[in-house]
Amino acid sequence: MNLKEEIDRLKKEKNAVILAHYYQEAEIQEIADYVGDSLGLSQQAEKVEADIIVFAGVHFMAETAKILNPSKKVLLPDLNAGCSLADSCPPEAFRQFIEQYPDHTVVTYINCSAAVKAMTDIVCTSSNAVKVIESIPKDQSIIFAPDKNLGKYLCHVTGREMVLWDGSCIVHEAFSIDKLLVLLKEHPDAKIIAHPESEEHILKTASYIGSTAGMLNCVKQNPEQKYIVATEAGILYEMRKEVPDAVLIPAPAKEDNTCACSECAYMKVNTLQKLYDCLLHEAPEIKLSEELRQQALIPINRMLKLSI
Ligand code: 13P
Ligand code: SF4
Repeated sequence: MNLKEEIDRLKKEKNAVILAHYYQEAEIQEIADYVGDSLGLSQQAEKVEADIIVFAGVHFMAETAKILNPSKKVLLPDLNAGCSLADSCPPEAFRQFIEQYPDHTVVTYINCSAAVKAMTDIVCTSSNAVKVIESIPKDQSIIFAPDKNLGKYLCHVTGREMVLWDGSCIVHEAFSIDKLLVLLKEHPDAKIIAHPESEEHILKTASYIGSTAGMLNCVKQNPEQKYIVATEAGILYEMRKEVPDAVLIPAPAKEDNTCACSECAYMKVNTLQKLYDCLLHEAPEIKLSEELRQQALIPINRMLKLSI
């Protein structure tokens, strides 16, 4: 069986679209109707008119799609596609945390559960985090969760002091600063571009810091440049497609990492076979209570209004 042809056939038969994150396997990105970063995917999900959304990404992304477009059936090829960052912020612990800071505005990174979003004033992604923080009046104190690395970066860029939740992404914390500096010596003409989920010492070496879509644009604007790319290695597929002549080197991971570069094991649990199976059986499906969906929608909509 040709899986790609079968997925295409099922997609037409069932009136489905495939939305995929840049960190998905290349073969999944190839068959997707839209490939993007967290913000782009949310904006697309909201607009989908087809009956079924197959979300080739991780759980919080598919959940966000369901929150934004509840009349659609949202499928995730493997429910094990979680996220270390979202997992680092259990809703009950977060509730207790924010109760300690009653007068604070609560900002959460989109990489969290619907239950955490429901306790949030405004959501952000790596594309619009600076804008979101700057939209909050200066005399207003802020809690930022769950990513402490993005949080520290935002404190630095905006000059705001924020109370940070102690969460992180295992993938973006896997970069080795020692190996990165050795690599830079070998390629002194290379520029480092990094995702803000990376640790402070990695971000200090970067000449551009931004979301996956932002990094892609950066490379497209100056394709003659040589780049060391500090984010999940899946983005290299789209970068190489868009800018085939650019020299792109994945930032090296620490010794104990399972992969020489940084790959998100959660993103990579999705496969073409699982995508086919989930379209065929219309499962696993993302479901959440209407009450929770409506609560989580408010802070997401606030973010989307700021991101037009
Ligand atoms: P963006 O898609 O906003 O760049 O975030 C990356 C990420 O880690 C998604 O899980
Ligand atoms: Fe979560 Fe990190 Fe994987 Fe993104 S790369 S899905 S933040 S574990």
